[in-house]
Amino acid sequence: MSDADIENLSEAEAKAELARLASVLAAANQAYHGADAPEISDAAYDALKRRNAAIEARFAALKRADSPSEQVGAAPSEGFAKVRHAVRMLSLGNAFEGEEVREFTARVAKFLGLDEAALSFTAEPKIDGLSLSLRYENGQLVQAATRGDGETGENVTANARTIGSIPHRLAGAPEVLEVRGEVYMRHADFAALNAAQEARGAKTFANPRNAAAGSLRQLDSEITRTRPLAFFAYAWGEVSEPLAATQIEAIQRLKDWGFETNPLTKLCAGAEELIAHYEAIGTARPNLPYDIDGVVYKVNDLALQGRLGFRSTTPRWAIAHKFAAELAWTRLEAIDIQVGRTGALSPVARLVPVTVGGVVVSNATLHNEDYIAGRDNKGAAIRGGKDIRVGDLVQVYRAGDVIPKIADVDLAERPKGAVPFAFPTLCPECGSEAIREEGDAVRRCTGGLICPAQAVEKLKHFVSRKAFDIDGLGAKQIEMFYADDQLPIREPADIFTLARRDATNLTKLKNREGWGARSAEKLFEAIEEKRKIGFARLLFALGIRHVGEQAGKLFANYYLSWDNFLRAVRAAEDESSAAWAELLSIDGVGEVVARALVTAFAQAHERESIARLVQELEIEDAEAVTRDSPVAGKTLVFTGTLEKMSRAEAKARAESLGAKVSGSVSAKTDLLIAGPGAGSKAKKAAELGIKTIDEDGWIALVEGL
Ligand code: IVH
Repeated sequence: MSDADIENLSEAEAKAELARLASVLAAANQAYHGADAPEISDAAYDALKRRNAAIEARFAALKRADSPSEQVGAAPSEGFAKVRHAVRMLSLGNAFEGEEVREFTARVAKFLGLDEAALSFTAEPKIDGLSLSLRYENGQLVQAATRGDGETGENVTANARTIGSIPHRLAGAPEVLEVRGEVYMRHADFAALNAAQEARGAKTFANPRNAAAGSLRQLDSEITRTRPLAFFAYAWGEVSEPLAATQIEAIQRLKDWGFETNPLTKLCAGAEELIAHYEAIGTARPNLPYDIDGVVYKVNDLALQGRLGFRSTTPRWAIAHKFAAELAWTRLEAIDIQVGRTGALSPVARLVPVTVGGVVVSNATLHNEDYIAGRDNKGAAIRGGKDIRVGDLVQVYRAGDVIPKIADVDLAERPKGAVPFAFPTLCPECGSEAIREEGDAVRRCTGGLICPAQAVEKLKHFVSRKAFDIDGLGAKQIEMFYADDQLPIREPADIFTLARRDATNLTKLKNREGWGARSAEKLFEAIEEKRKIGFARLLFALGIRHVGEQAGKLFANYYLSWDNFLRAVRAAEDESSAAWAELLSIDGVGEVVARALVTAFAQAHERESIARLVQELEIEDAEAVTRDSPVAGKTLVFTGTLEKMSRAEAKARAESLGAKVSGSVSAKTDLLIAGPGAGSKAKKAAELGIKTIDEDGWIALVEGL
């Protein structure tokens, strides 16, 4: 039914349609807020909400008690302006055991070339909310942004201003100050909010974090104002002058400006003190008025934080020590096999629904065949194998935000007649043989693109947020188009030829169930907008095994243009070629990634499918790193012993200044940094006439940058 039909609806039809929309939207809300797994795109959600509102406007008397217009919905991301963070908002690496905390402090000391005894750290609760960055200019709150993907978030300034614990003005603040912290909801406030929602017949929230997120991401800030949100400050982004010399003093300054800071923040001398404070916070946890899911450790000295810097998405100077996951027992009703984008057969446990850590869980991952099996086909016990059978009583857990897992099986509760699970050796989707390669824990369908499951998953990945991110074309729509013989999308290129290959396609889409004139036109426009795409994004979008977002960026930054890259990858098919050696010389690229990449382009059908796509696109080259540093764009090699900084620090420093660091000297090397004991590399550099400096020369070169 299209939106144009609203004018022709009879009262009975309108009533039925409002009932349908209420149920569809409620399910979408549940998927979005409850499971944090949206089932329809924001655009499709919006279209349904608009349709609901239009029908209600015509038939005011038919408005339902549980009308979707009165409810907190999945706040559409397009409803907020985007904000590019001046300093990226990062996530944290995790530790689960004390041993990993000791490894963390040892790693930090080693990187800095310091004695562990010289280091101190802060330890503070990890608040289970959502992070927010508040920008103050000349002491005035000018912008508030959510984390988003870390680089770009949503502008929620009006909403943030309604939160009582966020000051609007700071006395004596630096000209620019971005305060970062966590928006959260206290248990008592959460319970009261849910009770009020329930009384109004409005939807309730699964847990305080979802309530906080749903409340902050309201398009109407007056709704946010009625929600009891709070904010703990624990970090900062851009600052025009340093806040302090240490983390603990910087937090004190935030407190002096009027921010709430966490009272359980403590300065600790080393791993043992950190772990002791973790235990203490764990003991206090049941009585805290808000949810926490771990303890965050940070190097106290800010100059050392600066030297430690970042890995791709996490700082080297901090780590989150998570609390053990929550557990619950339930029955395993069935084991289904899902086929992923790379053909992996993934077993999924279908469970009798059970609440784990405030969220209802009815599915869990079973990882792979060995995890389920107790024994291999020769009868030998498999390490890590659990012998999980349909009908078993199983223990489910959630660790952080990840998909629920099965921790244990209660063998005493096994029903009589329960048989070992027979893992399929044929793909359940296309019937092709599913094989396990030597050393691979995963069984994979060999059907490639003839396997509909793989093709659909590849397409879903292709349109996903970090890939082509086409508004109105999400997982649901991909499934529809894939199965639609009139409007088929079977490979990425088909998306871009949809409008051109048949002039009636737009009309056909307008008449499809669930679509209307507006949504169809919007989709066609959204597709046009995405013809222009960056190299790194395109490569990631192709969904080549092992080539994720980071690898996409690595290759783009190295090869700069798509044509250049394509030539190199084809040439690298010969593993004795210089092209193959060069591929492996890229920092961060190992054999597994390189081989997966080369293999993908070596297959004619894959290569041709990509070529058809590329024909439809305008690919933007990656920009050469033009950082203002004497080593930007240069290839460096370190050799011999460095005495004033560790090799890891030197390399990280060089990369942060835009240099490439290579492990071997070649004609492409621009500079060799040779410490005492340098041998063959120094000799080779001398032969090739490559400039060589010592460690002091290196420090002089990069000092103060
Ligand atoms: S520090 C560069 N401290 O945890 C590191 N994060 O898993 C910046 N979080 O995105 C984060 N409590 O939303 C830090 N006391 C705390 C925290 C905290 C909660 C969240 C934050 C971050 C996520 C990382």
